[in-house]
Amino acid sequence: MRTVYVNGEYLPENEAKISIFDRGFLMADGVYEVTSVLDGKLIDFDGHAKRLERSLDELDMPRPDALPDLLDVHRELVRLNGIEEGMIYLQITRGAPDDRDFAFPDPETTKPTVVLFTQNKPGLADNPTAKKGIKVISIADQRWARRDIKTVQLLYPSMGKMMAKAAGADDAWMVEDGAVTEGTSNNAYIVKGNTIITRNLGNEILHGITRAAVLRFAREAQMQVEERSFTIAEAQEADEAFITSASTFVMPVVDIDGASIGTGTPGPIAARLREIYLDESRKLAV
Ligand code: PDD
Repeated sequence: MRTVYVNGEYLPENEAKISIFDRGFLMADGVYEVTSVLDGKLIDFDGHAKRLERSLDELDMPRPDALPDLLDVHRELVRLNGIEEGMIYLQITRGAPDDRDFAFPDPETTKPTVVLFTQNKPGLADNPTAKKGIKVISIADQRWARRDIKTVQLLYPSMGKMMAKAAGADDAWMVEDGAVTEGTSNNAYIVKGNTIITRNLGNEILHGITRAAVLRFAREAQMQVEERSFTIAEAQEADEAFITSASTFVMPVVDIDGASIGTGTPGPIAARLREIYLDESRKLAV
């Protein structure tokens, strides 16, 4: 039984309760972050905390009183649940007014709801899937136009994962106006020669915290990085492909819509980036 955090209290998971009027539940009026834990420490915590504040600001959502203590709350949950490797999920919603209403409630009387829980994943860093890579399919990107805000509106990405599963694949890359935006819960990359290519930042994709770190480490290691759009056809012709996220770190992609990428096995650049990312972010973990 996990200990979770709800609005200032640490509770057994089966005692934690949220109102049926919570706007996260009724309107998907909430934002979230997923931070990974390695060696019992938080990876890229500052990046996640900054993006969370940006998401709140973009949605004009009041900052919860608990915001300055979030690092302590993360650490306390890691400690209480004895997490060595895994994730911490955090969600903030606009809170629970007295009734359902499209208009935002008065922030003076309706305080944000803050929930955090741990996900224990022993072997997260040593994931055997990284040795064989994953298969992706392409699907249309039918999400809303502000994907840079990390909201809990995850129905279409969930449907995308199910479409991938039905097709015998592991995930889906979403395509808009002929170009890949991102994976259902990760950023997408291809490698041509020594150049790493990934979509430029904008409202069309989530500004991945893992993406920022991986691109920084890649540049520090003198690798070439191009931030631009690419098509599925270009990806299928690439030497390598991979994804990044807080829960998968760097994960090779070996098949796109049934076409093998490169040799059909994880490529050296993805493998190297995974190693660098894990090594360097472990050193910076808090
Ligand atoms: N997803 N793009 C999308 C649509 C995402 O949902 C995520 C993360 C990313 C990668 O961002 P980061 O590197 O900051 O994790 C990109 C998380 C892990 C999730 O929903 O579980």
